[in-house]
Amino acid sequence: MKEGIQRKIIITDDGSKTIHLPELNEQYHSKHGAVNEAMHVFIESGFNHILKKEFLDHLAILEMGFGTGLNAFITFLEAEKCNQPINYVSIEAYPVTWSEAKLMMYPEVLSVEEKSPIFSRMHQSNWEKPVDISSSFKLLKRKQFFVEISDIECFDLIYFDAFGARVQPELWTSEIFTKMYKALRHKGVLVTYSAKGSVRRAMQEVGFDVERLPGPPGKREMLRATKK
Ligand SMILES: C[S@@+](CC[C@H](N)C(=O)[O-])C[C@H]1O[C@@H](n2cnc3c(N)ncnc32)[C@H](O)[C@@H]1O
Repeated sequence: MKEGIQRKIIITDDGSKTIHLPELNEQYHSKHGAVNEAMHVFIESGFNHILKKEFLDHLAILEMGFGTGLNAFITFLEAEKCNQPINYVSIEAYPVTWSEAKLMMYPEVLSVEEKSPIFSRMHQSNWEKPVDISSSFKLLKRKQFFVEISDIECFDLIYFDAFGARVQPELWTSEIFTKMYKALRHKGVLVTYSAKGSVRRAMQEVGFDVERLPGPPGKREMLRATKK
């Protein structure tokens, strides 16, 4: 991965858009449906799974790869439905510009046009500064590389949303999953769309309990890892 790589907007099978990187032949989301994938992997298998167990004063989420802001936005929408306060920290080394992000039209696709100002604020807020997106949703965007993460026991949930292991094998290693393990609180959970055997073994190596779950449309399985 390098700076200045060409980004092209494409439409996925559920009608929602994502970004395609022609040089790497990689997408920010599944071609089988960007919104469907994000809802299945991160909301249903991560966010809802945690909240089924307990209501938390503040649910602390770490996202690996802010990208288009889709995960942050749908998390905001879900949290609002169940009145769950959120501290959302998102890591990104190569930010998407607001002029690109607004072309994704996620508020329109999700039929929540009235929440457009929220999506806009998420993108236009400063980096490295915690911002109140609403009275119960705090966002901190950190412009850094995944390898630089050194948080200790700060998060209940991690959305691990790096590009695939074919493109970025160095991000799906026990070195990175050790950082993820340390960043989680006791019984914290990491979810990802990947179901690769080597990824599962790297997670187990650092101490995670790993479950294989049914994947989003177009993918047989995904992974959920829980800190012991
Ligand atoms: C699969 S996309 C994330 C999609 C995003 N979660 C969304 O909802 O649109 C992966 C993201 O990781 C970022 N990224 C790639 N390599 C990185 C690295 N080494 N450190 C930090 N961010 C990186 C990319 O710029 C991209 O935004």
